[in-house]
Amino acid sequence: MRKIVIAGNWKMHKTQGEALTFLQGFLGQLSETPQDREVVLCVPFTALSALSKNLHGSRVMLGAQNIHWEDSGAYTGEVSGSMLEEFGIRYVVVGHSERRQLFGETDQTVNKRLMAAQRHALTPILCVGETKEQRDRGEAEDIISKQLMQALVNIDQSNLVIAYEPIWAIGTGDTCETTEANRIIGVIRQQLDNQSVSIQYGGSVKPGNIDEIMAQSDIDGVLVGGASLEPDSFSRIANFVQ
Ligand code: PGA
Repeated sequence: MRKIVIAGNWKMHKTQGEALTFLQGFLGQLSETPQDREVVLCVPFTALSALSKNLHGSRVMLGAQNIHWEDSGAYTGEVSGSMLEEFGIRYVVVGHSERRQLFGETDQTVNKRLMAAQRHALTPILCVGETKEQRDRGEAEDIISKQLMQALVNIDQSNLVIAYEPIWAIGTGDTCETTEANRIIGVIRQQLDNQSVSIQYGGSVKPGNIDEIMAQSDIDGVLVGGASLEPDSFSRIANFVQ
């Protein structure tokens, strides 16, 4: 069974105080959310402590946005799986295009981070996707295929979520056609050994397009940036209408 995973990626937004204010407006709006939907907030490291205390007993799962492959060591500025474990988190975003484009993340480091996440019993959300130029050159499928092949070496596909995020659709308001996102997600699924991996779509997901996105046969959830920052918009997304 493929699980429905609705995840917010706050990126570098919200102080602890702002995160708690968000929760006050958000949790009450989930009372009708069907139980078979996993609702996840992937937040800055600095907000994990406050949120983990305040989400205790709620249905919302907590996630981080990165993980180092070593458990400790001389890696200034990095955070390890043992450190994350203390917050009771369940998910970690790995290989987001912003990490790849701005911070030198490669398919090899993505693979190491995925392994570390699984070693610490976290579910990695592996992000893959093509740039506008790659799409225009007709290379989208090859690029995604290569990202998957290299990232998934020695990875346990029974504890994995994949997010298809066309880079040109991230933060631009320019959503990928839902049928095209569905098609690419089908292509991704063909490359997996385990057919119960949940595959999300990400890129300018908002209240106005969530119902259409979730109506697609192969899309199992969404990874949401901008629209996850406001309680009303993210709860509308979690409460998508089938
Ligand atoms: P967006 O970001 O929803 O703001 O386009 C998505 C993402 O980067 O995961």
